[in-house]
Amino acid sequence: MNEKQMAGGKAADYIEDGMTIGLGTGSTVYFMLQKLGKRVKEGLQIKGVSTSDSTTQLAKSLDIPLISINEIDQIDLTIDGADEVDAELNGIKGGGGALLYEKVVASISSKIIWIVDSAKLVESLGTFPLPVEVLPFGSHQVFRLFEKEGLQPSFRKKEDAYFITDSGHYVIDLKMESIKHPEKTASWLDGITGVVEHGLFLNMADLLIVGEAGGPAIIY
Ligand code: 5RP
Repeated sequence: MNEKQMAGGKAADYIEDGMTIGLGTGSTVYFMLQKLGKRVKEGLQIKGVSTSDSTTQLAKSLDIPLISINEIDQIDLTIDGADEVDAELNGIKGGGGALLYEKVVASISSKIIWIVDSAKLVESLGTFPLPVEVLPFGSHQVFRLFEKEGLQPSFRKKEDAYFITDSGHYVIDLKMESIKHPEKTASWLDGITGVVEHGLFLNMADLLIVGEAGGPAIIY
């Protein structure tokens, strides 16, 4: 069993009958959904709130019942992956481009579990390029602002075209190398007109499950 499979499988054990569950996005969440699908087939009753088109498709293929976020006010538990996590359980997310819906779902979740492989643990955030979701209109002005700030921006591309998020936006990845003051960076990004959301998820996760080669998953 690889680390992602171990972390994903362990997280599915936290899901209880009757819960509304935020379903994250990515290759680690894939394994959580496989296990959740099995538990649903065995009779577990839950409702899932998806964070991306890819998760919606996968959940449907596994017969996991879904509910629209617009029909609920609160989510009991969200299980999601992350691209980097530090010792305070702050993280960078959005490697898969689902950061906006992931943050909306996180914002109404009573409890959040992140599931990662051990390579995602870092001392300080920033080695992983920070994804920033931007409106296509005016996105090149925002890009030039990032350039002026020395943040080495690049538009995320897919097969030579702009990568388009599920909500129709572009993603600019920032090579910051080390984010010394994540809160300051987050509020600076929040204040830029044209920035829809960014991948700094600060003070959000309650629990971190890390898959470890050859051992049980470690829970922080
Ligand atoms: C998608 C995300 C993912 O959770 C993150 O990229 C981790 O993905 P993976 O589990 O495939 O490594 O934030 O937007």
